[in-house]
Amino acid sequence: MKIRLDKLLAHSGYGTRKEVKELIRKGYVTINGDEIYNDDLKVDTENDEITIAEEQVNYVNLRYFLLNKPKGYISATFDDKYPTVLDLLPGSVIRGLFPVGRLDIDTTGLLLITNDGKLAHQLLSPKHHVKKTYWLKYTGELVKDTEKRFLEGININNEYITLPAQIEILGNNEAYVTIEEGKYHQVKRMISACGGEVTELKRIKFGNIELKNDLKEGEYIEITRKDIF
Ligand code: URA
Repeated sequence: MKIRLDKLLAHSGYGTRKEVKELIRKGYVTINGDEIYNDDLKVDTENDEITIAEEQVNYVNLRYFLLNKPKGYISATFDDKYPTVLDLLPGSVIRGLFPVGRLDIDTTGLLLITNDGKLAHQLLSPKHHVKKTYWLKYTGELVKDTEKRFLEGININNEYITLPAQIEILGNNEAYVTIEEGKYHQVKRMISACGGEVTELKRIKFGNIELKNDLKEGEYIEITRKDIF
């Protein structure tokens, strides 16, 4: 792949576009052994050897895929027993990719798959309060003060009190739930603590990203870093 040198260096973590242009201008960068001063030069990421301050630059082409996960797939890169979400992407792109967080095997919906470890860490860290919204169907009857209990945080099996969350009960035994964390079976256990049992769970929003109706289960689209935040 051919890419502008300043873009490549900025994507590889050597600074902003402005900062890397300055490094190039000052002669810190070499291509195939030659010092270069021209930041709009295109380089070949597979064949050109690029150094910055005598250190070799290993370019990683960061990629971002949004998958509508179907049931029956594990949110992992490898599994002995079940197919993984990576099996739904073309073999030619999956090297180095991993899902950002987990959806249960029977949960469907929005899953981000990337090779951008830094972004994944930001999205998953509790510090960043990234909101995830789920649509769900349940059986049983939810206690009267369910909305209030969600807002206050729910005690899950005396193990953990969840951060404040929201539930919008839609009638017809359906609801939207929004949480900011991702504990094991969290939504199912919150609903269970309020008297219901989740029978269908689908993630429809992850941070700023929404699941579009035209993305069918098992389908994916490639997005860019800017689409995420
Ligand atoms: N909460 C759950 O219980 N399961 C999921 O897959 C995601 C959130």
